[in-house]
Amino acid sequence: MPALVLLGAQWGDEGKGKATDLLGGSVDYVVRYQGGNNAGHTVVVGDQKYALHLLPSGILSPGCTPVIGNGVVVDPSVLLSELSGLNERGVDTSKLLISGNAHIITPYNVTVDKVTERFLGKRKIGTTGRGIGPTYADKINRVGIRVQDLYDESILTQKVEAALDVKNQMLTKLYNRRAIAVGQVVEELLDYADKLAPYVADTVLVLNEALEQDKVVLFEGGQGTLLDIDHGTYPFVTSSNPTAGGACTGAGVGPTKISRVIGILKAYTTRVGAGPFPTELFDEDGEALRRIGGERGVTTGRDRRCGWFDAVIARYATRVNGLTDFFLTKLDVLTGWEQIPVCVAYEIDGKRVEELPYSQTDFHHAKPVYEMLPGWSEDISKAKSFSDLPKNAQAYVKALEEMSGAPISAIGVGPGRTETIEINSFL
Ligand code: GDP
Ligand code: IMO
Ligand code: MG
Repeated sequence: MPALVLLGAQWGDEGKGKATDLLGGSVDYVVRYQGGNNAGHTVVVGDQKYALHLLPSGILSPGCTPVIGNGVVVDPSVLLSELSGLNERGVDTSKLLISGNAHIITPYNVTVDKVTERFLGKRKIGTTGRGIGPTYADKINRVGIRVQDLYDESILTQKVEAALDVKNQMLTKLYNRRAIAVGQVVEELLDYADKLAPYVADTVLVLNEALEQDKVVLFEGGQGTLLDIDHGTYPFVTSSNPTAGGACTGAGVGPTKISRVIGILKAYTTRVGAGPFPTELFDEDGEALRRIGGERGVTTGRDRRCGWFDAVIARYATRVNGLTDFFLTKLDVLTGWEQIPVCVAYEIDGKRVEELPYSQTDFHHAKPVYEMLPGWSEDISKAKSFSDLPKNAQAYVKALEEMSGAPISAIGVGPGRTETIEINSFL
């Protein structure tokens, strides 16, 4: 069973970095297949804490080859500074492979992201401002710049010209900004070419050959299911497909190769940026979850919105991703509550609804229907097996499993690599 997908089952920040890092020691390749440096993945190894944005979390496992797939959008300056930051801390990054077909986040894409958000005003998405949406828009509009374009100056110049043609009209006439000079952009991009050259590869070929040789490949999603451009809470989403199918298009691997799809699921819910969030809390419980869970964005430093666990969303994630397993994270954060509310269904305009409504209007009206589960007060951070957990914590996990539609195969009880209870092996 060599190909696994690991992805966020909620709105991102579920603890994907920690889960990927945990498996990194046993897999041959870890592949990012979508998104870019909008992601912020925290990995804690011993007393060392790493914040990764663009690099796959497998980069911290020496035996593992990290891969940036064709579906990712790459900001070269961020990538190079992330690499040098890790090198300074003694991490070997020389195995990294980057797809020549991945798209480049250019400086003008970042500018467009920021001005668009400003002009949306109250209707803004709350993006990370990293140029993600505009870069994917250029890709779909067929005016994107790919990594391979850095190695042909004439083509690169033509493509930057084509991309800036319309954008400069927009920037100067609509947004009152200065035009961006083609030459300056081309010069900056060419400056990255030599530095990235050692990593650029035909990653589709590499990964398919690896799978043929029975190597273990782990596809690591950024963001989460509800931020998916097709299946998320559109328009309050990111501009790529973090859901399982995205691994196939974003890495060039057929669906028949995927053997396991693991959804990372926080024991409560968080979200960053704008958009509906039925179980969001505006009281001391929300504050407590934020404080105890350290719920502050790794990328933008924004406070995360916090709320109780939402089983409707978990069931939806099981369905759209074909999840085979869940990895439940941050169970330790819930220690100390006498009773823990869990959202089992919604009430929408007076009617009980068990499944996520496809209509945006209905979802905006959804009110959580809560079931109260008994809490626990014992410290669970040292638990090594399921039976080490207090009875009520066990019952909480079992109830979530029952409601969510896939087995919970691992439980996080702390941020560290070893603070994990493994129930079923992933490999
Ligand atoms: P990602 O974007 O999905 O990789 O998640 P983030 O790294 O943005 O946010 C998850 C946070 O929770 C990080 O600070 C992790 O170190 C931390 N974390 C992950 N798993 C656990 C866990 O089981 N318990 C606790 N207390 N913290 C965890
Ligand atoms: P990880 O991988 C949480 C959110 C932004 C915004 C929306 C669109 O750490 O889980 P974008 O810049 O992508 O166009 O912003 O998506 N968002 C995330 N929220 N975790 C992330 O990544 C996110 N990446 C983007 O806050 O609401
Ligand atoms: Mg994150």
